[in-house]
Amino acid sequence: MTDNPSSTLSSPSVNWQHWLERWDAQQTGYIPHREERFQTMLDVLEILLPENFAAIDLACGPGAISQRLLKRFPHAHCVAIDYDPVLLAIGQGVLGNMGDRLRWIEADLTQDAWLKQVGEIQVDAVLTTTALHWLPIDRLVHLYQKLGQILRPGGVFLNGDHLYFPPHLVTLRHVAKAVQTQQEEQAFSVRHQEDWQQWWEAIEQEAELKALLAERHRRFQPRFTEHEPTLVIHEAALQEAGFREVSTIWQRFDDRILLAVR
Ligand SMILES: C[S@@+](CC[C@H](N)C(=O)[O-])C[C@H]1O[C@@H](n2cnc3c(N)ncnc32)[C@H](O)[C@@H]1O
Repeated sequence: MTDNPSSTLSSPSVNWQHWLERWDAQQTGYIPHREERFQTMLDVLEILLPENFAAIDLACGPGAISQRLLKRFPHAHCVAIDYDPVLLAIGQGVLGNMGDRLRWIEADLTQDAWLKQVGEIQVDAVLTTTALHWLPIDRLVHLYQKLGQILRPGGVFLNGDHLYFPPHLVTLRHVAKAVQTQQEEQAFSVRHQEDWQQWWEAIEQEAELKALLAERHRRFQPRFTEHEPTLVIHEAALQEAGFREVSTIWQRFDDRILLAVR
């Protein structure tokens, strides 16, 4: 594992901006209110934190949160962490280190080594979007314990993702799922936007990314499954990890922002 994926330096001819724009478009097909969700998360930081705060973008992909956060808060710093070498390369290729305000870490969040890579610091904020459902529930609970340690008292955790209704709320689960299906049909069947699979198939054609794509397959392919922890599990795990105020602050069916104050 390295702090700085070397890929971008060795593949200067890849059009990183192109892939980032396609990434954002593809993700917006699944989450039509994605930009509103990002900006709502950042609204919380503006209200609660000093101008020069330090944040972590957890499971950052190509730096989706980092780029928006550092643009909106010119005195803030951010550490962007992910395990996907391709997405990290895109993020690093477009954003670089944003004038020494952005540090990239390549690490598996199911293993504690990422904490050592971040260093002996406490941060003011940890943000994550559309990502933690990739982690098995025991790993998610463990990760929240670690976030309780790395965030300073008064610091904030924000998670924007599908945080599911519990199984006994059968009708609410049904409605949320149906809305999600309709949105995806509109995006991918009616408007013919590029979906996740098509995006990955397209980038697989980038000859210069062959080694990174192979490494990505090695890391993710054997174990990719989606997990569906309910909202209640997230809330309980965060309270258990020492967060004193935990609640949903924005919601479209089961797509929510969960805010937890350390
Ligand atoms: C759908 S993407 C979301 C990326 C970004 N947060 C966004 O909103 O565009 C999910 C991200 O979670 C990352 N991820 C999944 N499991 C991970 C793990 N064990 N460690 C680090 N990152 C992980 C993936 O590599 C991917 O970048």
